Amino acid sequence: MSSEITVDSTSTGSPNAAPGAASVLELQDVKCAYGGVQAVNGISMKVAPGAFIGLIGPNGAGKTTLLDCVSGFNRAYSGKVFMNGREISRRQPHQIADLSLMRTFQVPRLFRHMTVLSNLMVAPQHQRGEGLLNSFFRRSWKEQELANLQRARETLAKFAITDVAENYASDLSGGQERIAELSRTIMSVPKVLLLDEPFAGVSPSNRLRLADHLSMLSVEMSVTVVMIEHRLEWVERLCHLIYVMAGGRLIAQGSMEDLRKNRQVLEAYLGEAPGAKTSEQ
Ligand SMILES: Nc1ncnc2c1ncn2[C@@H]1O[C@H](COP(=O)(O)OP(=O)(O)OP(=O)(O)O)[C@@H](O)[C@H]1O
Ligand SMILES: [Mg+2]
Repeated sequence: MSSEITVDSTSTGSPNAAPGAASVLELQDVKCAYGGVQAVNGISMKVAPGAFIGLIGPNGAGKTTLLDCVSGFNRAYSGKVFMNGREISRRQPHQIADLSLMRTFQVPRLFRHMTVLSNLMVAPQHQRGEGLLNSFFRRSWKEQELANLQRARETLAKFAITDVAENYASDLSGGQERIAELSRTIMSVPKVLLLDEPFAGVSPSNRLRLADHLSMLSVEMSVTVVMIEHRLEWVERLCHLIYVMAGGRLIAQGSMEDLRKNRQVLEAYLGEAPGAKTSEQ
């Protein structure tokens, strides 16, 4: 059975989207099970271009699994996913990344035996030196590599992790790993960015910087963002519209103010009001 509500950020919530505007991302009745566990149980949603969407819900709600399906890291699902009207259901992750739909992971995935800077340098898609023919035209790929190096350094500076640029990824703290992964994702200039708990493990002093940068990506670069996050104060600050998942279904949508008054949402959090996890840790 499909989720009881169909959420549609193209008609509400995004200040950047005209009502009824075409969706950049559309999910139709997505379902995914692990053995007997129905992790995602009929999710339909439309995400407007330029929207900054929050996806919240208690542990085990199915949020990460949903992102895995959309980004191609889990292709054992039913239902359909569209990006800019083009069906991308069950495509390989690299095919989806080629369409500029990028993601970060709940547990950051970096090349651990490479430096942070090298991790960023390998990110941009279709580098000129990769093709055999292009490799003969040394000047052109060298120029691109220098441009990438400059961008990588600028990106690290924006996130204030320049001091670990030459460190191996395996030596980073949890928060630094997360920011390095996000920096690498941004090197690929995403159109749609799916974030899985970007604030987890990030030091309190860096959270504001991270929030500013995510906001800049959305407002200045028109990146469409879907962000899973348990730290609800950041969800409230950044997101135009928040969707709540529980038991594999979407149970509510709205502003944090709306959701705080929603009984179904409060019950899903087992009596724990959204906002209870908002204290700095
Ligand atoms: N690889 C897996 N194999 C078996 N079951 C899984 C697997 N991944 C997730 N699950 C189960 O699927 C359900 C949804 O998990 P998922 O990780 O998507 O939830 P989540 O909302 O991201 O939770 P959290 O907030 O804790 O990260 C849970 O019951 C979980 O135990
Ligand atoms: Mg998760």
